[in-house]
Amino acid sequence: MEEADQPSTARMIDFWLGGEHHFPVDVAAARAFEGAYGPCAPLFRQMRGFLGRAVRAIAAAGVDGFLVFGAGVPTRGNVHEVAPEATVLYTDVDPVTIRLGQRILAGSDRAGYGFGDATDVGTIDPALLHRFVPGWGRRPVGVVFLGLAAFLDDATLAGTLDELYAAVAPGSFLAVDFDSEELAAHPQALAMMGPAFRMRPPAAFAPLLGRWTPTDDGIVPVQHWRPEEPPADLPDAFYGALATKSAA
Ligand SMILES: C[S@@+](CC[C@H](N)C(=O)[O-])C[C@H]1O[C@@H](n2cnc3c(N)ncnc32)[C@H](O)[C@@H]1O
Repeated sequence: MEEADQPSTARMIDFWLGGEHHFPVDVAAARAFEGAYGPCAPLFRQMRGFLGRAVRAIAAAGVDGFLVFGAGVPTRGNVHEVAPEATVLYTDVDPVTIRLGQRILAGSDRAGYGFGDATDVGTIDPALLHRFVPGWGRRPVGVVFLGLAAFLDDATLAGTLDELYAAVAPGSFLAVDFDSEELAAHPQALAMMGPAFRMRPPAAFAPLLGRWTPTDDGIVPVQHWRPEEPPADLPDAFYGALATKSAA
């Protein structure tokens, strides 16, 4: 298997989720981060649980095509696993993670993986888009935008979400999350996330959704979004929402 010389947050998450698709450099970075912050596995299990509940809610509304941005590693309860009847295109900008994802999905005819810069939907190969998200722009789709907002500044994030809103058909959904200010109390861990990392209070995130309308569940800590289990005693590191483009 190809090695990576730089860690990736996506493959660190795979490590924390108990997956098998990460490299020694990712494990070293994950352990260093936990040394500065504390255990991360339960937090990322919460985030992946939110993905599962949000994707199942989208599928239950009759949507059967998903476009995933900043997708990371397509395993451990990812979109095609929780919505097996749907077709799914995973995208990312990290070439090592893309090749890893392509290898994992090599046998699938319902899920694919390609390059996609979330800030410009035009960077996605149109053939892949139309194969795995048929009717893009004409039929309602689920857009999954998780673990990504923290890497985009406010103007870029607002512009990106607005561009996606304009691109999708009415009746489409957006599953989105963002990092709370949890790391502010852990400066060493915060420094490890790099200068572009952004934390946001919920009130600062809401306006960035622009024309997307959150469901009545609101913008809440991910473990409180349509919970299926009693809340765990964990910090609210990630907030999430499901938002819609109203049917015309
Ligand atoms: C924290 S990981 C999240 C992975 C996955 N969504 C999850 O929740 O497990 C962030 C991912 O976003 C990718 N990424 C960063 N900037 C991006 C951009 N502009 N467009 C698409 N992906 C991006 C990174 O390469 C990385 O795989």
